[in-house]
Order: sequence, then structure tokens, then C-alpha cells
Amino acid sequence: VDHESLEAAAREVMSPAAYHYVAGGSDDEITVAENTAAWRRVRLLPHVLNDVSTVSHAATLLGADMTAPVLVAPMATQRLAHDEGEKAMARGAARAGTVMVVSTMATATLEDIAAAAPGGTLWFQFYVHRDRGLSEDLVRRAEAAGYEAVVLTVDVPVLSNRRREAEHHFQLPDGMTVANLDTSLESVEGSGLAEYTNAAFDPGLTPDDIGWIKSIVDLPVVVKGVLRADDAVRATDAGADAVIVSNHGGRQMDGAIASADALPAVVEAVGGNVPVLVDGGIRGGNDVFKALALGASAVLVGRPLYWALAAGGEDGVAGYLEEIHTELARAMALCGVADLSEIDSSLIAS
Ligand SMILES: Cc1cc2nc3c(=O)[nH]c(=O)nc-3n(C[C@H](O)[C@H](O)[C@H](O)COP(=O)(O)O)c2cc1C
Repeated sequence: VDHESLEAAAREVMSPAAYHYVAGGSDDEITVAENTAAWRRVRLLPHVLNDVSTVSHAATLLGADMTAPVLVAPMATQRLAHDEGEKAMARGAARAGTVMVVSTMATATLEDIAAAAPGGTLWFQFYVHRDRGLSEDLVRRAEAAGYEAVVLTVDVPVLSNRRREAEHHFQLPDGMTVANLDTSLESVEGSGLAEYTNAAFDPGLTPDDIGWIKSIVDLPVVVKGVLRADDAVRATDAGADAVIVSNHGGRQMDGAIASADALPAVVEAVGGNVPVLVDGGIRGGNDVFKALALGASAVLVGRPLYWALAAGGEDGVAGYLEEIHTELARAMALCGVADLSEIDSSLIAS
């Protein structure tokens, strides 16, 4: 996928504040750059002389059938990209046959997003608020609206220092709100997102909170934002049904390890027990293939889908995902694997 042209096309139609909010990361953006670089550093050891006349990348994950193991990462405030925001993203994902993870910080209610894409599979990402009643209410609403898993993001005890957000005085334009929470993230100076987050999110999370969520809803719980093997073990011991290796796209601790580099140790520690997903810097089908070879069960894609939404709405999202699927199929053929189950670490040149 030519993600640079896509980003340029999105930038044309987005306000500078919105563009920099999406493109940016924390502090010096070291980890933002590392995430893409790390996938590019991985070298493959392709097979030949294997029959690849038919290649299949259909996958099942936590009960969800997908055309390919590529999910839409949870991203806040998508009406900043397109009028139809999360609804268009959900329809595009459904058309491409994949799961969209809907952010708590969406600019439409979780019920309206579900209603906009009947037949699609949605997971609900949430942050635990200091107000536990509010969090409880949100996950119950998601379950009632037909969401099929909850994704607990654990890497935002506080919001990082995001210079671009502060510089552009990030807040939502008139008429737009974080609909589930009824706030427009208004701020007097600096980033409205930082002000809201630091006041509202609970920095006191422990593994016990995973059990707490499981006691509230009868859905798989996925823990997002793990970079260490020991934390992955703590999360799964506490009941996590899957973990996502992620540094939040370089938007939280700057200088944190690239997700591609963190993945193998987490797979080694818990991969036999639960699916391990990964996100951060995945830009095309070759990156997806490398992630699967390093032991991931699936990947999530963030910013490129925000750009696709801005530049092309629902069609842009579906088109981008279909292009990634085509690229993944081609990488599989070129590496001599006909089925996802044949992708393993022997394909990585160490
Ligand atoms: C604009 C934007 C908003 C995001 N909002 C959320 C969010 O609300 N919840 C969350 O768990 N992660 C959020 N993320 C992180 C993504 O889920 C994902 O971890 C990251 O974008 C993956 O990296 P990539 O953008 O390089 O693909 C956001 C990322 C971006 C770019």
C-alpha cells in the first residue's frame, strides 16, 4: 500500500490540528519512527517448491471469522477524518470482512455505530474511568449492543506529552462530542484530550481489574498495550483471553521498544495459551506476514485506516483493507505457504 500518498491525501482534507493529532506521537516521536523501521528490518527466509496454487488467509479469532487476521485498531474521534466517522469505518470494515475495534472516545455512541454496520463484527475498546460506575455502564452497553469482545487498554495511566496536540490546542470542533462520554474535550490551553484523560482515567489499574471486568460482562477480555513478557503473564494469569503487544502507536512512552521487537518474547511467554496480537507501524501485507511469522495471531492497523477514512470514507477503508489482503496473499505465495497455519518462525532469517 502506498501509505505516504494516502497520508498526503488525508492531510489535504483534514484541519492541521486533526492531522497532527493523528500523525503525531509523544515527546520526540522516537517510538513512532521505530515502529515502522522495526518491521522493515525483519528479513524473511522464503520457501520455494511448495504448491501455492491456492492461498487462504481466512482466520478465526475469539469466535470472530475474518477474511484475514487484520483488524481495525481502536482510534478516537473519527469524525475529525470524515463526516460519517466511526459509522463509515465500521461499514468499510464489515465490507472487507474484518473486525473493527471501536474506541470509547468515538464521536458517535457505541449503539449508533453498531446500528450503522449490521452484519459487521465489533469489539469495544475501553479505558477504566475513576468513576467505576461509568466504566461498568459502558461495557454493559457494549455487550447489550452486540459487541463481541472488550479490549481493555492499559497503557494510558496518564496521557503522554504530545507536543503537536498541545501546539495545535487539540479539542473537538463545535457540534462534535465524544458521544459515549458527552464531552467535547474543550480546553483553555494545551490539549483538551490530555486534560480530560488525566482527570478521568484511573491510573490505579492492576491485574485484579481484569477479573473485575470479567465479572461484569460475559465476553472475551483482550488486554491492549503490553510490551513485556512478565506483564503478559500477569494479564493472562488474571484471566485475559488475548493480549495486544502495543506501544499505542508511539503515542504513550516515547523511547519504548518497537512492537515488532517486543513481540517474540511475549509470544514465547504466553503464545501457547492465548492469542497474541500486535499493532504499531504495520503498513502493508508484508508487515502482516512478518508479524504472523514472529508468532502473532493477528494484527491491528491504526493510522493508515484513519487516512483511508479521511480520503475515501467507507470505500477508502474497504479498499485499503482489501489491498492489504491482496498483499498478504502475495507474500504467502512468495514465501511458499498456502495457509496461515503454515506460517512460522522458520520463515524468519535470524
Ligand atoms: C488518532 C489515534 C487515536 C487513537 N485512539 C486510541 C484509543 O482511543 N484507544 C486505544 O486503545 N488506542 C488508541 N490509539 C492507538 C491505536 O489503537 C494503535 O495502538 C496504534 O495506532 C497502532 O499504530 P499505527 O497507527 O502505527 O498502526 C489511537 C491511535 C491514533 C493514531
